Formats: sequence, structure tokens, C-alpha cells
Amino acid sequence: MTGPGAHFSLGRRGGASPPVPCEGALHPLVHAIPYPVHHHSLRARIVEQLRGFLPPEEAEAESWRWLEEGLGLGRAWLLAHGEEVVPGESVSQVDHWLERRRAREPWAYILGWSLWRGRRFKVTRDTLIPRPETELVLEAALEVGRRLGVSKATDVGTGSGILAITLALETDWGVSATDISRRALRVAEENAASHGALVRFSLGDLLASAPDPVGLVVSNPPYVDPLEAPDLQPELGLEPSLALFGGEGGLAVATELLREAHVRSAPGIVMEIGAGQGPELEARARARGWRKTMIHKDFAGHHRVLVALA
Ligand SMILES: C[S@@+](CC[C@H](N)C(=O)[O-])C[C@H]1O[C@@H](n2cnc3c(N)ncnc32)[C@H](O)[C@@H]1O
Repeated sequence: MTGPGAHFSLGRRGGASPPVPCEGALHPLVHAIPYPVHHHSLRARIVEQLRGFLPPEEAEAESWRWLEEGLGLGRAWLLAHGEEVVPGESVSQVDHWLERRRAREPWAYILGWSLWRGRRFKVTRDTLIPRPETELVLEAALEVGRRLGVSKATDVGTGSGILAITLALETDWGVSATDISRRALRVAEENAASHGALVRFSLGDLLASAPDPVGLVVSNPPYVDPLEAPDLQPELGLEPSLALFGGEGGLAVATELLREAHVRSAPGIVMEIGAGQGPELEARARARGWRKTMIHKDFAGHHRVLVALA
């Protein structure tokens, strides 16, 4: 599956304005923001700088995240205190962030964490940055797992651990998780500890290290077609290739996982997929013994979640 149909849910170049510097863009070595600066003009400067490489609405939304997540200033506070002078150290901090962000480092890596389903997860360059649409996988897993009455689940390719940890916190299932990246697993273990979630992590290829029975298999596997790499936003270049690229048009890891999960007698599998990969993966699932398959679409109408039942 190649071409636009298989595209990753976030971050194609086509989605952003061309990376031309905005008017008033500053040389990276020049102190970017003249002091003293008021909160409202600080945010305006952040937006102006981000608009150099992001579409206006994304620059606007991200500027609020900088103030809220980075400086800990809520919108209501800013409305009331917009005319107050920003402390010098906050301005230097924003200067530093701007320099890193102009080099297209994603905000979550600069910050070191990301909010997902209302919880804070540590992220590093060894882990994928959690995406909002992966909540659709979680919702489908909760629904399917409850309908099937499962008591166990295994998250394959856990990354920062979002799916496994959230399942452990929101169900009474025994949850295991695997990843082929030792460094990603360390981050997932830290996240589980900080949320007090009981997850059994193991290093291994797909289900190889997962204890039996595997229960409901849940996964957001790498599914981007490597041929699409040149079209992706520069930010994705900093995320681990192991987390993004699925081989064989993006389908190789998902296909092997469908096979292994069926061999391991999983009652079902819930898996994130690339837009347009649905029909091909449904056919592959059935060819590997899954009795029933369904595709859930995301808010943009793209195929996003494959559910297969034994
Ligand atoms: C798309 S990321 C998903 C991370 C996390 N579950 C999330 O949704 O944010 C895919 C993850 O699968 C892992 N991975 C890739 N190939 C794997 C394999 N053969 N076996 C186990 N994990 C694998 C990567 O290291 C990466 O952490």
C-alpha cells in the first residue's frame, strides 16, 4: 500500500505552510525577545515565530501550550494578567525553546512530556510522541475487551506506555506490554511507576516475550510506508524510525502481528492503522484466521483502527 492513501495521521509536509521565515524572523543567535516584555506580547511573539513554519491555526494552538504546559500559565490567568511583565528567566526560557523549535524539534520533546487522555507521560527521542487519535484504539479496546469479558491484555510496541498504562489504570485486567526498543521500555517503566500502574513489561519482537495467555492484543504498530519518508514533516525525522516505519508499504509489522496474535489464541486484536490501509489489512486478517473484522474511522474520516475477532 503506497501513495497518499497510506499516510500517517500526523505530519505530512502538505499540511503546513512552506517553511519561509516570517516577517521579523530573528537570527537564531540574536536574543529573540526584547526585554521587558508583557505576557500578551510574549505570546504574540511565539505565534509570530511559529508561523514561520506552521499553519496559522497550529501556531496559535501551540503558543497556548507553551504558556500553559511550559510556563504553567493558564488562559484565564493570562487574560487577567496579560499586561504584567514576564520574569526575565521565563523570557530566556522561551528564547531557548524558540531556538530548538525553529530547528523543528517537536514541542513534546522540548518539554519532555506530553498529555494524553488527561495524563502526563514522559517522552524522549526514544519514544513516539503520543497522538490524540490513539485514544480511538484505547476506546475500541475498552469496548471490545468488556464485550468479550477479557481479563488480560497485551500492548505490543508500547513506546512511552500510554496504552498499557491507561488500560491498567482504567480496567481490572492484567496488562502486559512489549517493545523491541530497550530505551523506549525504560521510559514506559518510568511512566508506569509515576502513575502507579501495574504493567508487566518485556523486551522482545512483537509477542515473543509476552506471557501466555496474551488476552486482548492492543497495538499502535509502526505503519508508515518508508517510501513516504521524504514527504513527512521535518518533526517526524526526530521520532524513532522504529516507531514509524512498518516496511512493505507500512504493512509488514501489522501483518505479522495479526498472524502471531491468532497463533497465540488472542480472542481479539485492536490495532491502529494508516489511512487507507483498512481493506488490505482486513483481507490479511481474514486470511490469517480472524473470523470477523471491523474498521473504525477517525474524526477526519480516515481508517484508523482495525478490530479483528477470533
Ligand atoms: C507507533 S509506536 C507506538 C508507541 C505507543 N504505543 C503509542 O501509541 O504512542 C510503535 C512502537 O513499536 C515498537 N516496535 C517496532 N517494531 C516492533 C517489534 N517488531 N516488536 C515490538 N515492538 C516494536 C517501536 O519501538 C515503538 O515503540
